Order: sequence, then structure tokens, then C-alpha cells
Amino acid sequence: MRAGEASATAQRVAAQRLRFDRAPAPYGDPDADDVLARDVAGSISVPDAGPMVDYLRARTTFFDRLVVGAIDQGVRQVVVAAAGYDGRALRYRDHGIRWFEVDHPDTQRDKRERLDRLGLDSSHIAFVAADFVTDPVADGLVEAGFDRDHVSLILVEGVAAYLERPVLASLLHQLRSVAADGSRLAISLSTTSTRPGSEERRAAFLATVASYGEPATATLTVDGATHLLRKSGWTAAPVGPGREDAFEQARTAGFTVLAPA
Ligand SMILES: C[S@@+](CC[C@H](N)C(=O)[O-])C[C@H]1O[C@@H](n2cnc3c(N)ncnc32)[C@H](O)[C@@H]1O
Repeated sequence: MRAGEASATAQRVAAQRLRFDRAPAPYGDPDADDVLARDVAGSISVPDAGPMVDYLRARTTFFDRLVVGAIDQGVRQVVVAAAGYDGRALRYRDHGIRWFEVDHPDTQRDKRERLDRLGLDSSHIAFVAADFVTDPVADGLVEAGFDRDHVSLILVEGVAAYLERPVLASLLHQLRSVAADGSRLAISLSTTSTRPGSEERRAAFLATVASYGEPATATLTVDGATHLLRKSGWTAAPVGPGREDAFEQARTAGFTVLAPA
């Protein structure tokens, strides 16, 4: 990220998400999410199609469905780490659910200013400003009212590639330290692959995000990722009965659901 500036990649993701169909829910305020995203998108132009669009669409569906599924199953705490302009706390707001958004102070400040200016109610969201490199995320969550005795859903979407490996390990370890048994953590990981075309796609991704001043740092192999997750206290979890087909594409793209080990 450029010092003192909100994340440009987060703004582009928000702009791109406006083009996607989202998982429906009988609660929440999808219009509020769209109002925020349109404000963020401004004059940003995003592609109509391409591998990155396909990737973001699958990623969005995957995380949407996990949120709706968790709420339907009675989860009452949702943590959005590296939230950026993710508007799920608005889209899927529901009575009695507490949302915690953790993000770099520069991005979070900009988001909160927009929410206020747009008159969007965020009283159900606890904001925790934290630079994952230097700030204690677990302490910040607990101080913000996170209840470590209640199960939670934790989202870590679209940030792993930007964090040095020890920083990512520390973030996951801290999240584990506050997550009650039965909690789930969903993460998108960018791993090296031998599939045809994957090196070219990865090179294009690296060049694009570097041009926004947010170079990706970590390249994980599948084995390296498994090791890192296990050492951080997490283990692979099933996504839920009857959902395997819907998630298959997402799984191969590197989205994973984890449970406390
Ligand atoms: C590509 S955006 C993804 C945003 C959001 N999760 C989404 O999918 O829409 C990356 C996010 O990571 C955050 N981020 C990057 N480096 C960070 C750090 N060192 N500490 C905290 N947040 C960071 C940025 O502020 C930004 O919100």
C-alpha cells in the first residue's frame, strides 16, 4: 500500500463486485452495500471479462455463501480481516449479529468517512484499525467487544498475497487465539500451480497489483500453505453437506475453510 493512502486494490475489488450477482438472503441491506461500492468505484473502470474477473466472481460467491450459511446456522459474530470496502456487514446485516472489521488504518479511515458521508448506518460494526505488521489484532478485537467464548466466522479475503509469511502466520495465530472451538476461518490463498497457463496468469496478477503500489510478496506452494496454516493453529474443514459441487471451482482457485486445529 502507498503510505498514507487507502488501498487501491481494495477499491478495484469493490468496483468489480458491482458487476457480480450476489448470494441472496432474506435479511440485510444490499442497497447500502451497493451505495458504498458505487461511491468507492467512482471513475474506476474495471474489465468485463478475463481470468481476474472470473477469479473475483468465484471468490465473491464463495465468501458470500459462507457468510449466509454461517448466519443461517446461528453464528452471531463475523470478523472481516483486511475488510477493505467489503460491504457484507451491510448486505447481510441481521438483528443480533455483531460484525468486526479489521483493516489497515489508512483504508479503514477512508471507508468510515465514506460511510458517514453517505449516511449508511454502521452501528452494528466494530472497527479495529490495525496494521498487521505491527499491531496486535487479537487484543484489538477483544477490546472492541469480540467474545472469545462464542463461535465466529472469520474472513481473510484477498490479503494473504500482500503479507510477508511471518506476518500472515502471526495474523492467523492471533485469530486462532481468540476463536472459540466450532469457529470457521475462510481464507483466499494464492499458491503456485503447475496447471497450464497458471504462471502467465500469476505474472499478470503480480504486474497489475504492483502497478497500484501494492506488490504481492508471498508466493506459497500448496505444501507451504498447508504447513503455515497448521502451524498457525488451523486445519482444513469441510464446507458443509450438499455444498461440495458449488465450492469445487472455488477450492481449486485457492479458497479454503479452516477450523481450529
Ligand atoms: C485486495 S484488498 C481486499 C479487501 C477485501 N478483503 C475484499 O476482498 O474486498 C487488500 C486489503 O488488505 C489490507 N491490507 C494490506 N496490507 C495490510 C496490513 N499490513 N495490515 C492491515 N491490512 C492490510 C488493505 O487495507 C486492503 O483493505
